[in-house]
Amino acid sequence: MLLAVETSCDETAVALFDSAVSLSGGRASAAELKAELISSQAKLHAAYGGVVPELASREHVKNLPLVVNDVCSRANVSLDDVSVVAVTAGPGLKGCLLVGLSWAKAFAWAKGIPLIAINHLEGHLYAAELLAEEDRPKYPRLSLLVSGGHTYLIFEKRFRDYQVVAQTRDDAAGEAFDKSATLLNLPYPGGPALSKLAEQGNPQAFSFPKSMSNDPTSFSFSGLKTAVLRCAQKLKEQIQDEQTRADLAASIQEAIVTDLIEKTRTACLSHRPASLQVTGGVAANRRLRERLAALAAELNLQFCAVPPKWCTDNASMIGILALRIIEQNPKKFSQWKSSTGSELGPELNFDVGAKARWPIAA
Ligand code: KG4
Ligand code: ZN
Repeated sequence: MLLAVETSCDETAVALFDSAVSLSGGRASAAELKAELISSQAKLHAAYGGVVPELASREHVKNLPLVVNDVCSRANVSLDDVSVVAVTAGPGLKGCLLVGLSWAKAFAWAKGIPLIAINHLEGHLYAAELLAEEDRPKYPRLSLLVSGGHTYLIFEKRFRDYQVVAQTRDDAAGEAFDKSATLLNLPYPGGPALSKLAEQGNPQAFSFPKSMSNDPTSFSFSGLKTAVLRCAQKLKEQIQDEQTRADLAASIQEAIVTDLIEKTRTACLSHRPASLQVTGGVAANRRLRERLAALAAELNLQFCAVPPKWCTDNASMIGILALRIIEQNPKKFSQWKSSTGSELGPELNFDVGAKARWPIAA
């Protein structure tokens, strides 16, 4: 059994996999996922309009043991049956990461079982491994990774062979949603609230300037925030009108999505992938999924978007990537001993620390 733990931000997430299926040569997928749980702190942070790091870490301390126990009982598995632990070591909020990582290290150390430290961004990239084999994006592939903290276009020739094609110069796509939502006085978390309101609105009602960046290797969303602020100030009381708010939300969403689509199109044309996937929290956005699917159809590419529950932060993506890493190098894994773990590289190393920053290609 592989136990996966994710505490990089404000979700305490745990998943349990039957790793034997994977290691015996079968390809693990959601079928081997025995149980998963996400305990969200969104309600707690809503009062502050954003995640309060110190509160989030304390909540993880409280919630993690409960979520672990709950996942084990749902899977009808005892903690004694766990033979490997995977945990997010970064990037994320340091205090939050420390809670999951310290728990995982202590548990693995006490039981003398391996610990696999996973990069959260890589987890998002491999969430699609939870799908049936025929639905996973084929290599070479282009991934649009859009979350609250990151905006990347990543080209991969093969498993874990990354080339960063584009990244943001300032705000992430999720931040653009969240900050615009705040200006509309929408509740936290802003992205889902703004996209819900947008469903009733006209995306052409307001026009926002195109991204500040014409460079195909970078995104820039900071200008949009200022444009939305100016627009809201100009509208004055009219912004209270429900239809105006919906039109504004739809137009903001369209501006963000159009920018993502245009850069993705350019990257597809220059890198010629076989497939296109979208991943990370913002990949839960319906309009983005629709327009990317249309782009992929136009360019004759396989398109993949995992179900929304695996787009936003979860532990299943961390666990499935750990299984894939084990499959790639079963020998290294079988040589693992707790006392010599540090000689086996960063992924199997008890010395690994929580990394607030951890670039994907390094
Ligand atoms: O991946 P994620 O759960 O956490 C990070 O690793 O950042 O992403 C969270 C981000 C937030 O900015 C949230 O507003 C955004 O994803 N998000 C959405 C939607 N659902 C989540 N943005 C737009 N539309 C959505 N439906
Ligand atoms: Zn994330």
